[in-house]
Amino acid sequence: SDIDLGDYPHYMLKEIFEQPQTIENALRGRLDSEEATAVIGGLNLTAQQLRTIDRVVLTACGTSWHAGLVGEYLLEEFARLPTEVEYASELRYRNPPMSDRTLVFAITQSGETADTLAAMRECKRKGHPTLAICNVVGSTIGREADGGMYLRAGPEIGVASTKAFTSQVTVLTLLALYLGRMRHLSYPAGKRIIKQLRDMPSKIEEALKCNDRVAEIAAKYAKYDNYLYLGRLYNFPVALEGALKLKEISYIHAEGYPAAEMKHGPIALVDEQTPSVFIVPKCGIQPKVISNMEEVKARKGPVIAIACEGDAEVARIADDVIYVPDVEEYLQPLVCAIPLQLLSYHVALLRGCNVDRPRNLAKSVTVE
Ligand code: G6P
Repeated sequence: SDIDLGDYPHYMLKEIFEQPQTIENALRGRLDSEEATAVIGGLNLTAQQLRTIDRVVLTACGTSWHAGLVGEYLLEEFARLPTEVEYASELRYRNPPMSDRTLVFAITQSGETADTLAAMRECKRKGHPTLAICNVVGSTIGREADGGMYLRAGPEIGVASTKAFTSQVTVLTLLALYLGRMRHLSYPAGKRIIKQLRDMPSKIEEALKCNDRVAEIAAKYAKYDNYLYLGRLYNFPVALEGALKLKEISYIHAEGYPAAEMKHGPIALVDEQTPSVFIVPKCGIQPKVISNMEEVKARKGPVIAIACEGDAEVARIADDVIYVPDVEEYLQPLVCAIPLQLLSYHVALLRGCNVDRPRNLAKSVTVE
């Protein structure tokens, strides 16, 4: 059944390896090649209503909030919709100006997070169409939302979220495509996004092949107590998520930062005992991220890099490289999340931590 461990030693590892399938599930029936758009049934808003939306607010906690950050970049790039990502715990007590053309999405794996639920109720009370991007069917948020999209990732048992994150990012990509095609996004651009999305399950399959290599790297680095995670643009939220994974299950202090911000603080922490994980696949500003990497090396900081297969320049500078398949920039969070999930998993194992049930954390935080 879905909650059988099968041959896996832990749910977390099983769920990481399920991702080619869960992403495929998230996409199933939701791609329309003919019209070069996404098919999204459950928003419960007419095309006319959706076209009048001029702002999006995404609200969530934890890993789901990180998925929201990727969503912000996607919605702004594809749909040109100004997007705000709010911690639900903050939004519920704030009163930011939001017009009735603001569309709200609560992003949540469990559908039961107390702060996310409260923020959603608050937005509904004020009259905004409030939708959910949710995994658990029949959950409180799933039921109370005006509509939304389910992840179809199946039960996630490991406390640290893995497959739900990549499904959330996948669904947000579909949403950005859909809202984009009602606005500025061209037919060829839509076609291209669809083609790339269709390839994702096999790209994730390929990314998972790094597992043995990641285990080796983990053995080399598990002794360190402080880490930096650095990435830019679409990979900035990935840096935050990588750091969160390490914190959650290894109890190692880790900070995610936009790579270029490191000169405003984090670089002061760099020394031989503080590894930096750079998420540095090919992209328009890759040379800039590479120069950040060189700055860390110049200060004797160990560097682990996540890079595209065959990237010799990154390999020359970094101490250790984990390769991921080359995909378009907006899909890099999906492939780059994989090695970071695996890194936290292997480091946690080596440090004797309870991977599936880390101390002090709950799978779903149903109290404030
Ligand atoms: C808890 C879990 C995290 C999760 C967060 C939000 O902190 O340990 O893995 O990201 O809640 O949960 P949700 O179910 O709302 O996505």
